[in-house]
Amino acid sequence: MFTATALTGSKPEQYAELAVQARALLHGERDRTANAANLSALVYHALPSVNWVGFYFFDGRELVVGPFQGLPACVRIPLDKGVCGAAASERRTQRVEDVDAFPGHIACDSASRSEVVVPLVQGDRLVGVFDIDSPEKGRFDADDQAGLEAIAAVFMEALA
Ligand code: SME
Repeated sequence: MFTATALTGSKPEQYAELAVQARALLHGERDRTANAANLSALVYHALPSVNWVGFYFFDGRELVVGPFQGLPACVRIPLDKGVCGAAASERRTQRVEDVDAFPGHIACDSASRSEVVVPLVQGDRLVGVFDIDSPEKGRFDADDQAGLEAIAAVFMEALA
């Protein structure tokens, strides 16, 4: 059985520990759905003040919700909509301190106040996005962004 231990140390150290746990959790498994489901659960339970953690996958036209933890979410997001669409189309992480100030933000859970969305790209192919929401404004800083990008990289490595 996989046991997640409590994270300790500075924030970068905590994310480094979380990445080690993520790698162990995904070890030897390439199934995208299984890995996305387990990673969502790991991150959702490891991080304080998050209300949604999960994946959207690109179906060739738009983003379609995948495994996640949190309240039920919007199923499809066009690439020109929302924080997820921006991350996917610009292929750049979006760190939004205040979702109410982000033009076009899609409120799936009305409790969400800040958000990080990391694009998932393999070569030049868009796989989807990894999305983390918080009910606190300004919940995510540059260390969170780097840590969540590292977790997304663990997911992408497992697919390769
Ligand atoms: N807020 C996102 C939509 C997805 S939910 O947060 C789960 C967006 O604006 O793209």
